[in-house]
Amino acid sequence: PGPPRDSFLFGHSPTILKLMKENKVIYDKFLDWVKQYGPVIRINGLHHVMILSVSPETVKECLMSTKYKKDIFYEQMSNLFGVRFMGNGLLTDRDYVPWHKQRRIMDPAFSKTYLIGLMGPFNENAEHLMEKLSDKADGKQQVRMHDMMSRVTLDIIAKVAFGMEINSLEDEETPFPRAISAVMSGLVELRNPLKRYLPGNNKRIQNIRESIGLLRDTGRECIKRRQKAIDDGEDVPGDILTQILKGAALEEDCDPENLVDNFITFFIAGQETTSNQLSFAILELARNPQILEKVQAEVEDVIGSRRDLEYEDLGKLKYLSQVLKETLRLYPTVPGTIRSIDEDMVIEGVKIPAPSSLVLNSYIMGRMEEYYEDPYTFNPERFAPDAPKPYFTYFPFSLGPRSCIGRVFAQMEAKVVMAKLLQRFDFTLVEGQSFKILDTGTLRPLDGVICTLRPRTSM
Ligand code: HEM
Repeated sequence: PGPPRDSFLFGHSPTILKLMKENKVIYDKFLDWVKQYGPVIRINGLHHVMILSVSPETVKECLMSTKYKKDIFYEQMSNLFGVRFMGNGLLTDRDYVPWHKQRRIMDPAFSKTYLIGLMGPFNENAEHLMEKLSDKADGKQQVRMHDMMSRVTLDIIAKVAFGMEINSLEDEETPFPRAISAVMSGLVELRNPLKRYLPGNNKRIQNIRESIGLLRDTGRECIKRRQKAIDDGEDVPGDILTQILKGAALEEDCDPENLVDNFITFFIAGQETTSNQLSFAILELARNPQILEKVQAEVEDVIGSRRDLEYEDLGKLKYLSQVLKETLRLYPTVPGTIRSIDEDMVIEGVKIPAPSSLVLNSYIMGRMEEYYEDPYTFNPERFAPDAPKPYFTYFPFSLGPRSCIGRVFAQMEAKVVMAKLLQRFDFTLVEGQSFKILDTGTLRPLDGVICTLRPRTSM
């Protein structure tokens, strides 16, 4: 099935590499192919065949059970440019038994009781962001909202997961945030295998390797300090780091580097994803004044002029929830997931021979007319309480056992930041920027959502 190859030897790689070079989202091309060739398409890479299916039944079957393993793509994330990156952490472990053990150990750090306790740090860091934005809110200064969102989400994950004060909102030049950005840009390189072998990129790749080294060293240091506090009988928070250490204590011959894998995993999985969602939400609200007004009115109604949000407020911010969900329909910041097909299967009447990689993609399905009326229109009413629920076409946090452990965490955090932002500022997009998406593995706004801000007069 699917489009004819560019060439017998190189498959569809020339088309894909050209799109990457032009900073285009390859999934838009895949969507064109789906429209032209049907719901199951075959994409030939340089040394790999991928099957893309947009059938909700396939999404259901492959994500809701543990029968289909995560694909070998995750091995590349384990070792980036030959250096251990996320290793066998929770996100990249492909084997069910060790993954399940890790997941059970981590679950308490995402329980409702624990998450309610995070409202303090969410409010505190969001308030810090508001102070920084107030300094710039004169209606003239241009603010790259994506940078500001990246910094606040980095400070939050560092604090609440690992008890670290990174303070990137104060000083973005400290080594840890710089190393994270260097590695994230490394993920752009990873998309294009050819780039890895270009001699001009050697220095860049070395920089990424060194950045990973710095992140892992910081992780080792942070783990050592917490272990000492536990051994000394000090009171420690029941945060993600404590859970990681508890899990290690239960293992007889635990590999200490696996703790570091999870340190990295939570920084990578828990920061950029949320900051991109916040940035796209700001972008769409600034483009849709009626929706902006409606959500501002709700925030005013629920929190008035109070500075901090209570846990109970979050459930009342229903329209804001709809806005955040609709943001992830059009811009699922993790666009999809990949499963290994180890036995032949049939999808929509098409025989899929094993072994293959099966691509399931929320970005593509979220933009299909078959599933969403007028799909390119940003319309939070799609997620109104009485609207029909999407049937396996919407999975920005994936679904089933390997779905996102941080989903509730992320949406609580996003609501606190957005509610404060909506309460305090009116924002206007600076003209001349594009609304394009940059695909770096996660999706982010290419031009960074540049806005001018003014304090809200009604507050
Ligand atoms: C897994 C999305 C925030 C931690 C995933 C997956 C998706 C996802 C799609 C599945 C990945 C795959 O199949 O390869 C998102 C989005 C977020 C978000 C859209 C924010 C808007 C977070 C946060 C944390 C987190 C805040 C941590 C505090 C994880 C972890 C996994 C994961 C550890 C692996 C789970 C497992 O395999 O058991 N996320 N995520 N995520 N996410 Fe998130």
